[in-house]
Amino acid sequence: MSELRDTPGSTMTFAPRPTGSPTTFAGERISYQRLIETELAALELAVRGIADVPNAVLARTLSIVLGAGGKRLRPALVLLASHGNPHASLERRIALATAAELLHTATLVHDDVIDLAASRRGSQTVNHVFGNTLAVLTGDYLFGKSGELVAGLGSPPIMSVFSWAVMELVKGEMLRPQLTDDLAETEREYVAKIRGKTAVLLAMACETGSMLDADDPQARSSMHAYGMSLGMAFQIIDDVLDFTATEAELGKPVGNDLRQGTVTLPSILYMREHPDDSSVRRVLNGGASDSETEHAVDAVRHSKAIESSRQCAARYVAEAVGHLSTMPNTPARRALEALAEFVVIRHD
Ligand code: FPP
Ligand code: MG
Repeated sequence: MSELRDTPGSTMTFAPRPTGSPTTFAGERISYQRLIETELAALELAVRGIADVPNAVLARTLSIVLGAGGKRLRPALVLLASHGNPHASLERRIALATAAELLHTATLVHDDVIDLAASRRGSQTVNHVFGNTLAVLTGDYLFGKSGELVAGLGSPPIMSVFSWAVMELVKGEMLRPQLTDDLAETEREYVAKIRGKTAVLLAMACETGSMLDADDPQARSSMHAYGMSLGMAFQIIDDVLDFTATEAELGKPVGNDLRQGTVTLPSILYMREHPDDSSVRRVLNGGASDSETEHAVDAVRHSKAIESSRQCAARYVAEAVGHLSTMPNTPARRALEALAEFVVIRHD
């Protein structure tokens, strides 16, 4: 954890975290980042440069949220999806990739206000340190800046996909999967929620990247579908890691979703496999003691539900890779395949 105090005047240190690691694909040592190394370095400068504003308070809050690292997955998708577009300049690709990262960051800043979250990515949240007003305004600024960058590309179709993603994100954030006796319905609601809150943004990054200074409807639809399936896999693995990673890796307590009453796939599958154990249901309904909560988190963590959830994510990864099959076998396509494989084996 970075050393922050709970006052606006505090001295803050923010150590950037590593942005992903090499992975393997088809026996070949390959990193989805290697192909776009130059672009990612330029992106990092562009993203951090957004915090360079004359307003001291805004500069401070922006540097917290933009300097906290993260996987830069959405910009990587924009950069890979636009990699083969001969007319797309580096500057325009970086602008779109930065917009994707800023929109993602804006949603997280607002989400932390909604969820009353105190920490994210191992650092304290803006709402926790500076309060809700400044957090909402910081998210608004990032949202505005991402829109400005996309508008600057001068492409109404790209702007339209960007706006679609924003509206879907809002609808996804509004969904609250209900826990009833009908677990199949709870699972359907969970799927709708993760589609909205995660998959849509990955689909937007992929689709708009493929559209940048190019006109290939087949590539556009393949990249949209790839991003959507990848996003589903990514979020399911996130929900698995919430149980299986360490507190240090997560930057929050193990089993945080369950403790907060948030229904995710591992909990749903656990309840389906253990109809006689009501502990998970009681935790989700807010009626469990501390020891019962610990039991429930531990029970899910060590159950078959984890492996079943991973298998579900792996099916989405296979689906994502399948959507690439209509595309030419380029280095960018192979990097997108590697990225999809990486999503299921990642540890944070
Ligand atoms: C995190 O979910 C939530 C999101 C990624 C989406 C948030 C979307 C909004 C606030 C609406 C749109 C906002 C803007 C600025 C257009 P989580 O709480 O389950 O995950 P977490 O553990 O990462 O917090
Ligand atoms: Mg949240």
